[in-house]
Amino acid sequence: MPITIGAKRESDFTDPIGMMGDCHRRIERFLDVLVSLARQQNGGPLDEAQRTALTTSLRYFREAAPKHTADEEESLFPRLRQAGNPEAVALLAQMETLEQEHESASSVHDEVDRWSRRWLEQRTLSVDDASKLSAALEQLALLYRRHIAIEDTEVFPAASKVLSDADRKSVGAEMARRRGLAAIEDRH
Ligand SMILES: [Fe+2]
Ligand SMILES: [Fe+2]
Repeated sequence: MPITIGAKRESDFTDPIGMMGDCHRRIERFLDVLVSLARQQNGGPLDEAQRTALTTSLRYFREAAPKHTADEEESLFPRLRQAGNPEAVALLAQMETLEQEHESASSVHDEVDRWSRRWLEQRTLSVDDASKLSAALEQLALLYRRHIAIEDTEVFPAASKVLSDADRKSVGAEMARRRGLAAIEDRH
């Protein structure tokens, strides 16, 4: 029962934890585009392909990435907190830290968005603005590296073990609804 939205998905809504891992690969890929552009051009003029790559990556972090954060904060973490299982209990402090990091990442993304839009509008950035953009991107790269590693190696494996089938189904349904697909439960 493949359910796809737009591009091909590696996992579908029947495997919500797998989908969350796929989102991590997209975060890494789009962040890498931003870091590479800033490093290569350093605020200098962008050609058409680079402008498109920058715009696409910014849009991903503005529109799609917050849904991934909501998947974790509103669908996954609450169920792990309620599970009462020792493996989930051991992750309580981690989940709190991860939520704080979501907030920090979001405010650094706002800065990245601001400098990048200026870059697109003015065609070049001042040395000062270019270094602010690079610093913000370095901060994000560092934050995501640790954050994603903890989710991929600790939280998601625990969730795969601890969540009941009903929980898994509900998480998948909520993720589908967040992306504009209703009544996904009927298709399981
Ligand atoms: Fe996260
Ligand atoms: Fe995540």
